[in-house]
Amino acid sequence: MGALHVSLPMETTRRSITFNRNLLIASTAITILLMATAVNLLLNRLVKKPIEQLVKTMSQVEKGNLNVEVNLGTQDELGRLAKSFSSMVEKLSYAQRELEKEHQLQMLQVKHLASLGELAASVAHEIKNPLAGIKLAIQVLDKNPELAASHQETIAEIMHSIERLDKTMADLLSYSRIRPPELQLVSLPEVIEDAFSSVKEECQLAGVRVEKRFDPTLPLLPLDSQQMARVFLNLFLNALQAMPGGGMLTIQAIRHESGYHLQQGFPTTGGTGREEGWVEVTVTDTGEGIPPQVLGEIFRPFFTTKAKGTGLGLSLAQRIIEQHHGQIFARSKVGVGTTFYLIFPIFPTFPPAAKGGAG
Ligand SMILES: Nc1ncnc2c1ncn2[C@@H]1O[C@H](COP(=O)(O)OP(=O)(O)O)[C@@H](O)[C@H]1O
Ligand SMILES: [Mg+2]
Repeated sequence: MGALHVSLPMETTRRSITFNRNLLIASTAITILLMATAVNLLLNRLVKKPIEQLVKTMSQVEKGNLNVEVNLGTQDELGRLAKSFSSMVEKLSYAQRELEKEHQLQMLQVKHLASLGELAASVAHEIKNPLAGIKLAIQVLDKNPELAASHQETIAEIMHSIERLDKTMADLLSYSRIRPPELQLVSLPEVIEDAFSSVKEECQLAGVRVEKRFDPTLPLLPLDSQQMARVFLNLFLNALQAMPGGGMLTIQAIRHESGYHLQQGFPTTGGTGREEGWVEVTVTDTGEGIPPQVLGEIFRPFFTTKAKGTGLGLSLAQRIIEQHHGQIFARSKVGVGTTFYLIFPIFPTFPPAAKGGAG
């Protein structure tokens, strides 16, 4: 039995362990650092720079410069995004150029129409006076007792033609000289009754039944009663002309709360957000109706399907209504009838802020 005492110096081993640990930590740190730098560089090159380039181009586009293009030169998602963006901008730019062209064309047409209106007015004016002279002369002739019966017939025909010409001239003049409306708070049913009184007899003669329904809560409206009576008269005459064999004419005025035009899915009435609701007037006939392909034309000046029409009634009505901040449109079914809708905003204050001038 004995004891062996072995003594080993651990100093070297410990130092070696420490060294190795430090080496490991250092190399790990360096590797992480290198990798981070590499990832950063890669991200920078592949993602950040292209995105920055894209953002820069986008903000240029936002400022209205459409003559830009981004080409990242890569085929990855970002490259494709840039390509789609460029092609979108190109399409936008094309659309903008087309719009500009269209706008210029329209401006030309507006100018053309304006001068046409002036020309029409001066021609109408020139013709009105001699026409009045001819009318007078014919009336004098008509009173001549020595006139043969056959001549009387001719004279009646001439008178008839003169009256038609007179009406056309009056329409033309009023069309080209619509003054701005003189607004006064008036009762819409009164204006409608006033216009209706001139066609009452014709309705009876044509066998047209009439029904009028006026909402008792209708407010007074700021209208030019003279102009508005013309509008209704035109609508009533059109309705009567569409029902030569008799029928039914319904005139209705109701009040709607705000948001009406949106609810109904009608074209926007250009609501300003200041209105406290809308008044809707409808004039409905059970006449021949308007074919869909014609419906889009009826408000165009001089558009008529009638042998003796001037084609100015509805365009005049539209201009007057628009000057009253309102809107007019029609719905129709061939063989069933036609409804004209007139929509007026109700403003909390009177007079409402002016909108647009007269032609
Ligand atoms: N109530 C209606 N029913 C059927 N067609 C209508 C009606 N109102 C208008 N129209 C159509 O719209 C056209 C234009 O009307 P308008 O401008 O008043 O001119 P005009 O009555 O002189 O023809 C008419 O020629 C007709 O074809
Ligand atoms: Mg008419």
